[in-house]
Amino acid sequence: MKGIILAGGAGSRLAPLTNSISKQLLPVYDKPMIHYPISTLMLAGIRELLIITTPQSREQFEALLGDGSHLGMSFSYATQSAPNGLAEAFLIGESFLAGGPSALALGDNIFHGAGFSGVVRSAAEAKAGASVFAYEVQDPHQFGIVEVGEDGRAISIEEKPVHPKSNWAVTGLYFYDQDVVDIAKTVKPSARGELEITCVNAKYLARGDLDVVQLSRGTTWWDAGTFDSLLQVSNYVRAVERQQRYKVACLEEIAWRQGFISDDDLLRLANNYKNGYKPYLESLLDSSTSS
Ligand code: DAU
Repeated sequence: MKGIILAGGAGSRLAPLTNSISKQLLPVYDKPMIHYPISTLMLAGIRELLIITTPQSREQFEALLGDGSHLGMSFSYATQSAPNGLAEAFLIGESFLAGGPSALALGDNIFHGAGFSGVVRSAAEAKAGASVFAYEVQDPHQFGIVEVGEDGRAISIEEKPVHPKSNWAVTGLYFYDQDVVDIAKTVKPSARGELEITCVNAKYLARGDLDVVQLSRGTTWWDAGTFDSLLQVSNYVRAVERQQRYKVACLEEIAWRQGFISDDDLLRLANNYKNGYKPYLESLLDSSTSS
């Protein structure tokens, strides 16, 4: 399975922060925002990623992330000329996906919690259909909303409904089988002029192939696209990292734990840092040899 990270958009809700820098490059506590969705896809076991950016910010993403080989990953890049909608990711990514299954992660969506790795790994292993992750929210008008029956199966899915049928928001992480590109090609622009990912999901629902995973209370999710959520998630990551021994979404650590890189590779990456990341990464090796 391959992954796409969609990191375009105008970032208008975060202006002036985003006047000269892409939203997904802004810091979330101790790392750039895009590290979080990359970590999500790495935890799912995905090693080949296409990173879609605006034309203006592509070079900055390439300077930050390179070709991914240092993490045992492969990163390629593409641009989206205008924010024409999330489903456009599959039109832009068609040749990259080469007819295979895929995962799409929005560059401003951050997940954290016990058992989350297992949840995404299972979704990546599914053989057919689509999997989405729902999170209970207080403001359902702002999201794609899914209505789930008592049997756990989806009944309806709507983008930013005026009269929401539930409080379960569809988060910005989607797993699809090989049909997604053909399905995305059939999507027509919505009233707001976008190719909606919710239309893709609705088509999977209509053919009885949409799996909805309702995230448990142990998992936290943010769409870090507003001033308040950006600060809240930064504070959350800081609190978790100070309270526990472990970092959240540390790409070098995840690459090593997933077996994408060796102990020597991890040590080399640790030596690139002159701050707290260096002793942190070294300590991972120490604890693995002492246990
Ligand atoms: O965060 C989850 C929500 O994301 C879902 O519940 C909704 O169903 C889904 O439509 C989306 O809603 P948003 O209103 O948050 O989408 P937004 O337009 O803000 O785009 C999400 C991210 O994707 C944002 O960081 C910008 C980027 N983007 C957006 C569009 C429309 C692109 O890179 N390209 C685009 O064409």
